Amino acid sequence: MNVWTFEKEEDLNAAGAGLIVSLLQAHPRATLGLATGSSPVGIYRHLIQLHRQGMVSFSRASSVNLDEYVGLEEGHPESYRSFMDQQLFSHIDISRENTFVPKGSAVDLEAECEGYEQLLEEKGPVDLQLLGIGHNGHIGFNEPGDHLTGRTHVVDLQEQTRQANARFFPSMDNVPRQAITMGIGTILKARQIVLVARGEEKAEIVHRAFRGPITTQCPASLLQCHPNTIVLLDQAAGRLFQ
Ligand code: F6R
Repeated sequence: MNVWTFEKEEDLNAAGAGLIVSLLQAHPRATLGLATGSSPVGIYRHLIQLHRQGMVSFSRASSVNLDEYVGLEEGHPESYRSFMDQQLFSHIDISRENTFVPKGSAVDLEAECEGYEQLLEEKGPVDLQLLGIGHNGHIGFNEPGDHLTGRTHVVDLQEQTRQANARFFPSMDNVPRQAITMGIGTILKARQIVLVARGEEKAEIVHRAFRGPITTQCPASLLQCHPNTIVLLDQAAGRLFQ
């Protein structure tokens, strides 16, 4: 596992974007595993700039997102599908039919999870999976507990996770209580994993995840078992590594 700490925000974003651009230059048909939340936004902004400068095309690439809130329609402003459209997809040349986000509004959620897992199996391993990390160590929405689930599944969001995401909703009552998420096994199948964390509030959990024991109580710690993981940190998030 490589941990890279950056003094400047732009350098972190450029490093993350650079990994994706290099992959697409070598493999234009690559499958990108994408995340939502604040952590990847700067990287997406940098990718959009590079795309506008003609440095990268996504026209033959495809993407699979980690997760989606249960109960939100695709067009809901806080759905992860909307987030991806606004923050990335509508600014680059990826074909919409090549972008996949689980459908949180599906009537049969179990069938949706199974279908998403099958789609991932048919596509073959994700070439590069981008991840953030929750304050409780979750990746995707795989919350800490006595056991973890391997495949794509429906998860009950922990109160801490709902509170962290409440900033995007009018009130706590509007924050979804469940999500569909890729499982830990699904995530660990990716050829390369790039986890991004920013800010002092992530310093402790990042240290626990990558220097502490490997435990289901901190799902991100399982990334210590992955042979090709890069962790990108700003100085505040990397404070305990220095
Ligand atoms: C988002 C996701 C979550 C976030 C995590 C960190 O698709 O799967 O695991 O990456 O909650 O969120 P931010 O980046 O907003 O701190």
